[in-house]
Amino acid sequence: MSTKATNIHPVFDRIIGRDEKEQFLNQKARVIWMTGLSGSGKTTIAIGLEKELQKRGFLTQILDGDNIRTGINKNLGFSEEDRTENIRRIAEVSKLFVNCGIITINCFVSPTLEIRKQAKEIIGEDDFREIYINASYQECEKRDVKGLYKKARNGEIKNFTGLDAPFEAPENAFLEIKTTDLSIEESVRYLVDAIISDISQT
Ligand code: PPS
Ligand code: MG
Repeated sequence: MSTKATNIHPVFDRIIGRDEKEQFLNQKARVIWMTGLSGSGKTTIAIGLEKELQKRGFLTQILDGDNIRTGINKNLGFSEEDRTENIRRIAEVSKLFVNCGIITINCFVSPTLEIRKQAKEIIGEDDFREIYINASYQECEKRDVKGLYKKARNGEIKNFTGLDAPFEAPENAFLEIKTTDLSIEESVRYLVDAIISDISQT
């Protein structure tokens, strides 16, 4: 067991500030935080959003659960405690990107109100935009793109979101996208339209 570090002296001055970096990039940094069940469409919409924003000259970074869990968070599973730590680390990483002026597009199940509240607190509510990618459990199970729903149903995956682990829908999302009603292109356009003025300098 490691002990907590002492004698730490964080440096905040003399570092080039966020404002200057945002001006350099001609954009305003935000965290576009997508929450929703596995297979609801978070990653697909994030990829579409990034392409559309790149066309318009914005610099973005996608952070995605499936990727992050092979790197910085590879020691974490899907217990409530591990999911909380997963999201805590991601929120801290997102804050670093935001301080660099970069628009971060996050795709995490981030299943509970408490977990997303923690993310919002770390990132700061002025920069946090919660997007609810809404597709029902039945719909995601029907899609079952990765075959996870079948495995969960057979008991091969424990703590599966929506089955034996909770998913709490956002109460006050910045935007809700019902991916059962909209095509991928429509979902992306809807999201771009909702955030474009928020991420633009003027
Ligand atoms: S969390 O809850 O925010 O910590 O999860 P996240 O880091 O986003 O990881 C979700 C991806 O992991 C795969 N996977 C599972 N999801 C939910 N529950 C269980 N038990 C599980 N096991 C593996 C799955 O591919 C998720 O990706 P998405 O893109 O959401 O389908
Ligand atoms: Mg995904």
